[in-house]
Amino acid sequence: MVLKLEFGAILVSATHNPGKAKEIAELLDGKFEVVTAGALGLPEPEEVEQTFVGNAVLKARAAADASGKVAIADDSGLSVMALGGDPGVLSARWAETAGGRDFDYAMDRVEKAVIKTGLADRSARFHSALAVAWPHGAVVAVEGTVDGMLVFPGRGTNGFGYDPIFQPLGYGQTFGEMDPMAKHAISHRAVAFEKLKAALF
Ligand code: IMP
Repeated sequence: MVLKLEFGAILVSATHNPGKAKEIAELLDGKFEVVTAGALGLPEPEEVEQTFVGNAVLKARAAADASGKVAIADDSGLSVMALGGDPGVLSARWAETAGGRDFDYAMDRVEKAVIKTGLADRSARFHSALAVAWPHGAVVAVEGTVDGMLVFPGRGTNGFGYDPIFQPLGYGQTFGEMDPMAKHAISHRAVAFEKLKAALF
């Protein structure tokens, strides 16, 4: 099998979130027609793996096998060194409340957990894993990361998720304060997409 993608091909994005599929289409320079697993009525598999790459592969594999088309999936999150890598693959779950996802609550949980460790080590890393799977065939997976320091209290209202408490190394602003284009130029997701394009095109 030749692990290259033909431009113009249909790519199934293993997500039920149309916004995420649109972002994936843009990050692949509009070269593919991206349809969501949700639009195709595919079930969402449970993310049971311990690594970002493991979960991305699991999701891409499930969408490709169920749809019979090449599928792409991502998994991302924040790893805090002082917390042994938590929240890690559970980054979204750390934000769960009875009223839905709340990232102020998740950032507060991270702050309280890091304070318990004595605050000596504030280093953290964002991860973005991407996997492309062929139906019942091969899979290509890559991972991008960006290193930074946690800042408490968080700063800035741009971005999403844990952006306000993450300041990339070598920069004076958090992801929440940075211009979105500046974040996109250096983010874990940008690194992962560059690696994926190098592998597939
Ligand atoms: P998932 O990849 O959909 O499982 O979700 C990962 C979670 O990690 C998201 O809900 C975000 O909270 C967090 N996350 C991933 N990437 C970023 C980022 O660029 N900024 C802030 N939070 C992020």
